[in-house]
Order: sequence, then structure tokens, then C-alpha cells
Amino acid sequence: MHYPPEPFRIKVTEPIRLIPPEEREAKLIEAGYNVFALKAEDIFIDLLTDSGTGAMSQEQWAAIMRGDESYAGARSFQRLKAAVEDIFGFKYFVPTHQGRAAENILSACLVQPPGKNPAGTGNQWVPSNMHFDTTDANIRARGGRPANLVIDEAHDPANPHPFKGNMDIAKLKAFIAQYGREQIPFGMITVTNNAGGGQPVSMANLKAVAEVYHKHGIPFFIDAARYAENCFFIKQRESGYEHVSVKEIAREMFALADGMCMSAKKDAIVNIGGLLCVNDEKLFADIKNELILREGFPTYGGLAGRDLDAMATGLYEGLDEDYLVYRLNQTLYLATRLNEAGIPTIQPTGGHAVYVVASEILPHIPNYEFPAQSLAVELYREGGVRGCEIGSVMFACLDPETNIWHYPRLELLRLAIPRRTYTQSHMDYVADTLAKIKSRASDLRGYEFTYAPELLRHFTARFEPLQQVTHEHLGLVQK
Ligand code: F0G
Repeated sequence: MHYPPEPFRIKVTEPIRLIPPEEREAKLIEAGYNVFALKAEDIFIDLLTDSGTGAMSQEQWAAIMRGDESYAGARSFQRLKAAVEDIFGFKYFVPTHQGRAAENILSACLVQPPGKNPAGTGNQWVPSNMHFDTTDANIRARGGRPANLVIDEAHDPANPHPFKGNMDIAKLKAFIAQYGREQIPFGMITVTNNAGGGQPVSMANLKAVAEVYHKHGIPFFIDAARYAENCFFIKQRESGYEHVSVKEIAREMFALADGMCMSAKKDAIVNIGGLLCVNDEKLFADIKNELILREGFPTYGGLAGRDLDAMATGLYEGLDEDYLVYRLNQTLYLATRLNEAGIPTIQPTGGHAVYVVASEILPHIPNYEFPAQSLAVELYREGGVRGCEIGSVMFACLDPETNIWHYPRLELLRLAIPRRTYTQSHMDYVADTLAKIKSRASDLRGYEFTYAPELLRHFTARFEPLQQVTHEHLGLVQK
């Protein structure tokens, strides 16, 4: 496959450096074998996340100069408001400092803990295709429970289904029948489905989801972090949308929902920022009060005026179709190079990241010894490249009622590609580094925790390498 020519040229550079192997080893030990604890200066190519790591355009930097730092009613806010209304079409919105702040505020306003909710002593539930980890944790932090009802195809990395982010409508209906409207304060869907491989949701599925939620009077929220990439996949893959602009597809998508949370650090190509949009006036009043308490006045929401302006400009750049062709093909290029080297990745390739199926490269490391963590460590050790474990470190959890550990079905290493940041030679380097690791994969060993917090443990956990594979049976069950 040809590498897509970038629809921009480079005007500013930031030096990066590959430190020697013995230094990388020392840095790993210092970091407790958690790549989140590494310093950026010790990393050569950073594919930890595509969030807030993209390169802003000259128009965004110019917009930053226009930023109006008034506390209330800034011009920057008016410009952001115009862009948000134009693209998303919701009645009300507030900016937030990032996506999880929007999730926190939404959960604070809508989720009620056991004993305080209309269902009595039970937990309230928030269904989605798959919640991202911060959404999951924000719902839990308010005493709610997240539920992931994605189609079964999503759990098979080789299945070529074009919309593997789709919600399983039968599962959703059964779920609502089981818990009832009272126990479901709102429903969600994540576009694209980050936790499931950056896979898109089809418009047909979004319509069906909206219909089911609305039939039961359940407010429907979209997690819109990567909505533009999702809309471009709809244009590419769903019949009837070939000639519809990505912006029009977005308008159609958001018209189905009652609101959205968005991390603007992805498809609005800014380094910081988020949005929370709703149609309901009463809910908006609650959101504003919560926002003032936690983030700031509703016309800046924890951001500087310049950040609002960068977001207003970036929202349009994220929808630019020349950019999206380049963006999605860059991701596909990396996946294709890896697949050619015999490294399995989730198929079809998602939008923002390539997901390496670590459990297939390291079948000798069981899930409770974290194969994807082992691969993440090795990728840094071999080539100074940082990826992100999306497997049992991130998602395995102990059910407090049954005391049984639940393990996710896939052990993945995510290589997330920052927007407009790396070139073809960087992608080639990453593919070559992983190919070298694959040739000696059987030498790799698993890891055990030396420290792990209860929630969101992947961020701060520390590990020790295991000397040998234990194959100890711990009576674990699959999620
Ligand atoms: N929703 C999705 C689908 C996300 O991927 C993220 C963040 C968030 C919400 C939270 O947004 O970081 O602005 O608070 N994802 C990043 C990632 C961290 O690396 O995938 P945030």
C-alpha cells in the first residue's frame, strides 16, 4: 500500500532522540515497567495516545493569538458557540477542560447511587457499545454501573465486519427489559469505539439505538471523541452516504441524540478541551451549576479563551475530507506493514490507532500475566517506541459481589497515531521494530503488579517482570 501524501507541509519541528539501549533499560526499571511513568524526553516515537498530541495548524495558532481572556462572555466563546451549533446542532453546550470532565458532570447530574435512585437499593446502569475507561470510571464513581453491549463480532479481531463498533440491538432491548427505565438514567454510544479497536458505528445502527432508547424515554448521549473519523467511515462504507459530506453525516448523527460528551483532544485537534452538549433545558441548568463548581464559568469551562478559539478552528479542520483521507490511510498503512510482517492487528483497521493482538504474538503468556503489557515494555526496550496496553491491566476487574476476577476478551497493544505529527519513516520504524520483537517473541515473559490502585489502575500501576510463565490456574472467567 502507498503511504498517503500529507495534505500539509511542516513549518515547525520538535527534536526527538533515541536514547541508547542501556539507558532505556534503566528508564524502564525507574518507571516500574509502566510506560505511563516514562518521560517524554526518553521516548523516540510516542504512540501512547492520539489525545491532545496532534499538531495544530497555522490557522489554530493564529486563532490562539485572537483568544479573548474575558472571564465571562468572551468573544472566543461566541466563536466556539457558532462552530458547535453549526456542526452538532444541540440547543445548549458548555466547554470543559477535557472529555472526562464532561463525563463527570453528566454522571454527577444524572446517575444516582443505590438507595437514592428511583429503583431503590439497586445500582443504576448506563449501557453503551463500549465505554472508554474514564467514562466507565465516572459512572462507577457516582454509584452507577456501566454496561458494554457491543456486537459479538467486535470480540473477534479477525472478523472484517465494517461497523464493529455497532451496538447489539437485541442485547440492548433485553438489557432495558431486565433493568427497566428507572434504573437507566441515560444511554450512550461511543463513536468510534476506542476500547474495541477504534471501530466505527454505522448510521443505521445509530438510528436503531436512538429508537430503542427513545421508545423507553431514556436520554441518548454520544461519546463523540472521534466522531469525524466515524463519519468518514460511514461515507466510505455505508451505502447511501458516498456522496454526502462528512459534515452533513455528522449533523444527521447528532440529530438522533439528546446530547453528547466530547474530548476535543481528538477530532478537534487541540491539545486541551472538551464539550458537553444537551437539548434539555433543565438538565442544562444542572450542568451549568455543576460546571461552575468544578470547572469554571459556563463561557470558559476550565479553559483559556485561546483554547476555545483553537477548538473552534480545529473542529472544522477535523472534518476536512482531504485531511481525513490522509488520516485514515496513515493508520491503514501502519497496520498493513505490520500485517505483512505477520503481526496480527484488529481487522478492519480502525481510525486513530492500530491495535496489535498481543495474545496472538505471545500465546505463552496468560492474561493474568499481562501479555500486552509485556509487548508494550518490549516495544520501548527495543526501539524507544511507546504504545498503550489495552487489555487486562486496563480492564480486568474484581466483581465485589462474587469476588471473581473478570478479564477482557482481548489483550491488545494500541499504537495510537497523533494527528498530523509523524511521517512515513516513523511508521516504517515502528513496523520494523515490532517485526524484530516478533522474531524472538517466545523469549518474552509476563509481568505482575507491585502496586495497583482500585480505579484506572493502568495509569499509575507498577510492575515486576516474571522470570518464568507460571501457568497458575486462578479460576478466572472471561468477561
Ligand atoms: N471518550 C473516549 C472514547 C476517549 O477515547 C477518551 C480519551 C475520553 C472519552 C476521555 O477524554 O482524555 O479528554 O478526558 N481517550 C484518550 C485515549 C485518553 O488515549 O484514548 P479526555
